[in-house]
Amino acid sequence: MNHRHLALAAAFLLPALPAAAQGQLNLYCSATLEWCQPIARGFERETGIRVNLTQKSTGEMLAQIRSEARNPRGDVWWGGTGDPHVAAGEENLTQLHESPRIAELHDWAQAQWRQTQGRTVGVYASVLGFGFNTELIARRNLPAPRCWADLLNPAYRGEIQMANPNSSGTAYIIIATLVQMMGEEPAFDYLKRLHGSINAYPRSGTAPITAVARGETALSLSFVHNAAEEAAAGFPVGHAVPCEGTGYEIGSMSIIRGARNLPAAQQFYHWALSAPAQIIASQEAKKLQTMANRGVPLTDGAPNMATARIIDYDNARFGASAERRRLLARWDREVGALPR
Ligand code: F6P
Repeated sequence: MNHRHLALAAAFLLPALPAAAQGQLNLYCSATLEWCQPIARGFERETGIRVNLTQKSTGEMLAQIRSEARNPRGDVWWGGTGDPHVAAGEENLTQLHESPRIAELHDWAQAQWRQTQGRTVGVYASVLGFGFNTELIARRNLPAPRCWADLLNPAYRGEIQMANPNSSGTAYIIIATLVQMMGEEPAFDYLKRLHGSINAYPRSGTAPITAVARGETALSLSFVHNAAEEAAAGFPVGHAVPCEGTGYEIGSMSIIRGARNLPAAQQFYHWALSAPAQIIASQEAKKLQTMANRGVPLTDGAPNMATARIIDYDNARFGASAERRRLLARWDREVGALPR
């Protein structure tokens, strides 16, 4: 056998490798692990690039990226609510990127990209609302909440959970939504009154709905897709989009400034905007957000953003770093620190 034959024989013995070059990617993920993992594995399958995954809530991930600014360890930050991604862009912690797939996305996803001069892009969206345990509220004779005003009903005292807005992007959107709908002073009065009914402020935005599903709390302030996912998994969970109107998230993606694996980061970005990558959400992770790629249909049972009464959420103002820090400090001082 000559050298050429040997090489050919060796080629047949090797396992099939994906076409693209091997390498690695440090993926920072602020969706739930149930979704981060299939996304990471999907990209590995597609490219052969090894993905090292770190999962944290959106506010916590922003804090980590800030602390690593001089020596960045992450390459791409995928998922999590939009405001901390906008803040990271303004703080020059992320970098501009343009994918040819931008035109495939819904307007709200493109708007996020344009408004941040290409530093972050929408990858999914979801509407804010309430989740409740249908069995618990029936057993305790509590009404199902329909409106923001209903949550101040004294009957709910000790029955409601929402996440801590410092760590959770979801909880920050609750504050920003109320400020936009009511004005800042009435919104903080509302949050102070609501505080008396809150039994815990966990770190992650999805923890309150998990507690609802397990029957540990009757009500939660959550994205409605999270409540619909718990119901689809067989838990006695109902949800409502507040009657007065509500806010929403643009789940976002950014490339971290100084990414050590920049070509892999750009490849991931391009792949993550594709319809097949976004279909992983419904098929593997059973997620019910609205995906940014217009080619991805809404999954059965997913709340429809188009029919919900949503506000014109001001991403520029509430994603601005100084405004975010100011509102969080005010919440800590005037709400979080109060006795319950
Ligand atoms: O993955 C679930 C989810 O609700 C996303 O839709 C959202 O972007 C993320 O969690 C927010 O998590 P947190 O509130 O913990 O930052």
